[in-house]
Amino acid sequence: MEKVLITGSSGFIGYHVAKKILKKRVKVIGVDNHNSYYSPKIKVLRFKELKKFKNFKFYKTDISNKGQLLKIFKKEKPSTVIHLAAQAGVRYSFENPQAYVSSNIDGTNNILECMARLKSSKIIFASSSSVYGNQKKLPIKETNQTNPLNFYGLTKLMNESQIKIFSENYKIDYILLRFFTAYGEYGRPDMFIPKLKKNILNQKKIDLYNNGKHKRDFTFVEDISNIIGILLNKKNFNQRFKILNVCSGVKTDIKKVISLMENELNKKAKLIPKSIQKGDMLETHGSNHNLKKYLNYKKFKNIEYGIKKIASSKF
Ligand SMILES: NC(=O)c1ccc[n+]([C@@H]2O[C@H](COP(=O)([O-])OP(=O)(O)OC[C@H]3O[C@@H](n4cnc5c(N)ncnc54)[C@H](O)[C@@H]3O)[C@@H](O)[C@H]2O)c1
Repeated sequence: MEKVLITGSSGFIGYHVAKKILKKRVKVIGVDNHNSYYSPKIKVLRFKELKKFKNFKFYKTDISNKGQLLKIFKKEKPSTVIHLAAQAGVRYSFENPQAYVSSNIDGTNNILECMARLKSSKIIFASSSSVYGNQKKLPIKETNQTNPLNFYGLTKLMNESQIKIFSENYKIDYILLRFFTAYGEYGRPDMFIPKLKKNILNQKKIDLYNNGKHKRDFTFVEDISNIIGILLNKKNFNQRFKILNVCSGVKTDIKKVISLMENELNKKAKLIPKSIQKGDMLETHGSNHNLKKYLNYKKFKNIEYGIKKIASSKF
């Protein structure tokens, strides 16, 4: 049975990806430190869901600890790594940049060193649309010049370079996925859509930056896990598509998201107007032309479908 190691398996995207892959009769080794950037309770719930699969094994480990990581690699010898563990969040990167150095820079370096030593052959990496910063030409193509506006985006760009260098030196095949705003069930409590749902239900106030005029290319997590599932079946990653935007290709403003959620929950949001925050991108809108071409994946879920799913789910 193929062995795939997923870092950040108790995270939002990691959980959905692991669940998808576990159904494919692949052995999944999950690694996560269940840190408290947001409440670990939801990480434990996701982990408990994954534990129901017999082909799932889990290590509660910090990827910045090379010694422990190496032990796991020596024991498990995974052929492929899906590297999702990271210190995420743009706003937190202004408060605590060191967390990004430790998890993103050191953590990724440790993963790559372990892969090189144990001869893992492939890495699928979670990069971010944050590497682009604000761009004049939309939709953003993979060939656009990168220009991160915050330290989080910079660490993702550095990770991409780390992976390229290791891959050239140690023959590790790689693909860099630049995710645009992901959303879905069991979402991250620090992100807007889960906060919106919770605060509407509890009739609590929620900050609305820039009058809700920000636009995001919202990407439903089911599409992300489908895409990673398809990538796992590829023997080699095509040289032409080493960097792929993972996005629905449709931009939606925050005001629309609010009104969809209000309709689904049949309650009004209590909004507090706030000015635009530093380091925030005004608009993210990606081109998914290459993704569609490479993977023949065309049916992205629309925002109406996604919000309905979230509104009716427990988390
Ligand atoms: N959610 C999005 O919209 C989005 C967009 C672009 C990129 N990404 C990237 O996708 C990946 C997954 O994001 P997510 O939204 O699921 O975030 P998440 O925070 O829910 O998941 C990350 C997981 O990694 C774990 N982790 C963090 N640092 C670790 C460390 N040092 N050692 C071990 N485990 C550690 C966390 O405990 C968490 O469970 C991240 O790399 C993120 O930067 C996410």
